[in-house]
Amino acid sequence: MALLKIARMGNPVLNVVAEPVEDPTAPEVRQLVADMLETMDDANGTGLAAPQVHVSKRIVVFFVDGGRDAREGGEGDGVPLTIMINPEIETLSEEMETGIEGCLSIPSMMGDVPRYTHIRYWAYGLDGKRFEREASGFHARVVQHECDHLDGILYPHRIEDMKSFGFNDELMRTFQAEDEE
Ligand code: NI
Repeated sequence: MALLKIARMGNPVLNVVAEPVEDPTAPEVRQLVADMLETMDDANGTGLAAPQVHVSKRIVVFFVDGGRDAREGGEGDGVPLTIMINPEIETLSEEMETGIEGCLSIPSMMGDVPRYTHIRYWAYGLDGKRFEREASGFHARVVQHECDHLDGILYPHRIEDMKSFGFNDELMRTFQAEDEE
């Protein structure tokens, strides 16, 4: 196990379309996923995509804790730690919702990003088996954010109101001031 270096916005590895994984059960895939999980945990991230650790492969990991899910308007069930290899997304409704996102590749910043509210997704696990899930709300947001990394897309590319993009502490101060009004 090893902590991996996280690429930050501006690094070309974040801007390219990642390659599919040929064999999800390969030992080197298992090793990479173990290191990604350790790196995500250490960085307190919700998700991590392989290009963020300088590996241009279609692998993402994510986890949504129940409390966070509830705060973000979800059912509060959270999502168990999920490993997705060669994931695919289908949108189940045209409906979109704007919500705050951050990213380990863009430290200390956040912004308002529109995402589809209902999706279905497929991926392979480390056992080589394909699984399918439906997701809505924050769960759907996380999956769309992480899978975007595999296509060289970072969340600022999707922001519609660039005034919503800024440093966490400045924006939090602004939200608090608005709440007090
Ligand atoms: Ni990200």
